[in-house]
Amino acid sequence: MAEIKCVGILTSGGDAPGMNAAIRAVTRSAIYNGFEVKGIYRGYRGLITGEIVQFRTNNVSNIIQQGGTILKTARSKEFMTPEGRVTAHETLLKEKIDALVVIGGDGSLTGARIFAQEFNFPIVGIPGTIDNDLYGTDTTIGYDTALNTIMEAVDKIRDTATSHERLFFIEVMGRDAGFLALNGAIASGAEAAIIPEISTEVDQLEELIKNGFRKSKNSSIVLVAESELTGGAMGMAERVKKEYPEYDVRVTILGHIQRGGSPTAADRILSSRMGAAAIDALLDDQRNVMIGIQDDKIVYIPFSKAIKNQKPINRDLLNTLKILSI
Ligand code: F6P
Repeated sequence: MAEIKCVGILTSGGDAPGMNAAIRAVTRSAIYNGFEVKGIYRGYRGLITGEIVQFRTNNVSNIIQQGGTILKTARSKEFMTPEGRVTAHETLLKEKIDALVVIGGDGSLTGARIFAQEFNFPIVGIPGTIDNDLYGTDTTIGYDTALNTIMEAVDKIRDTATSHERLFFIEVMGRDAGFLALNGAIASGAEAAIIPEISTEVDQLEELIKNGFRKSKNSSIVLVAESELTGGAMGMAERVKKEYPEYDVRVTILGHIQRGGSPTAADRILSSRMGAAAIDALLDDQRNVMIGIQDDKIVYIPFSKAIKNQKPINRDLLNTLKILSI
C-alpha cells in the first residue's frame, strides 16, 4: 500500500457536539505519529473548492469544550455527482493528501464509501451524529450531549405541563431513528416515546391513550421522534384533537437546540478515543472502515456494514419506560 505522509480531515453533514474534540484528537495523534495534517473546510464541498489549511497542534488548541465544528460543515450536492468527486480527487492529489478522516453521519460515510471505492483512496470514518443511528457502534459523537439537552428542556416543559394539567408532545430529532426519543423519555421521566422503529407494528397513540394518564396526575409528557413514520409531534397533536378532544394538548419542537452546546464529558472522551483510533487504524493499514465502540472497546466496522444495516433499538427500554410510567 502507498505510504501515507499527509492526512486530511473534514466534518460533514449535521454538526454534533464533540466534533471539535475529535478534530483535536485526530490532528494531535497524527502529528504525534509523524504525519502532516490538513484541515478541509465545509466538508466535501471544501474538497471541491480547495478550502484546505495545514494544521499544527495549536490549530486545535482550546476547542475540546466547543460545540459545532471549527472546520464548518455542509451537505454537498456536488460531491454526490461523479464530476464533483473527480474534482475532489484532483484536489487531494494537488494538496498531496494521502488519506482522509471523515467525521459525520450516515450520509457522510456513504459519500466516503463511494469515493474510497471509485479512487481506491484510504478513508477512515468517525461516527459524528446526534442521531446514534450508525450500525456497529454502541454510541456516536454528540448523542450523549443531545440527550442531556433534551432532558434539560423536558424538565422545564414539565413545570408548565403540570401547572396546566396538559398533554405535551415534544418532538426530538433523530431523522428516522428513535434513540433520542426513547432514551430521552427515560432520562426525563416522560410517560411514553413514539418512535419510528415500531410505528408499523402498533398504533402508539392508541396504546398511550388506552393506558391513560398516570393515576396520580393529570399532565403527561410524550416524546415523539421526528419522522414521517411517526407523523411527528404536530401529527400526533392533530390526531388527538380529532380523536380524543377531551385532552388539552400542546406541542413543542425542540429543533436545532439539540445539536448545540458544549459536549458532555462522555462525548469528549468518546471523541478523543475515536480520533486517536482513526490514526491507529491508518497505521494498522485499515482502509474504508468506521471507528466504532462496543462494550467500551474500539472496533473497526467496514463502511458497508455501518451504513447498510439498520441499527436496532433495545426493545427492553420500551418495556422499562412503560413500567416506570404507571
Ligand atoms: O442527522 C442529524 C440531524 O440533526 C437529524 O436529527 C435531523 O433530521 C437533521 O440532521 C436536520 O438537518 P438540517 O440541520 O440540515 O436541517
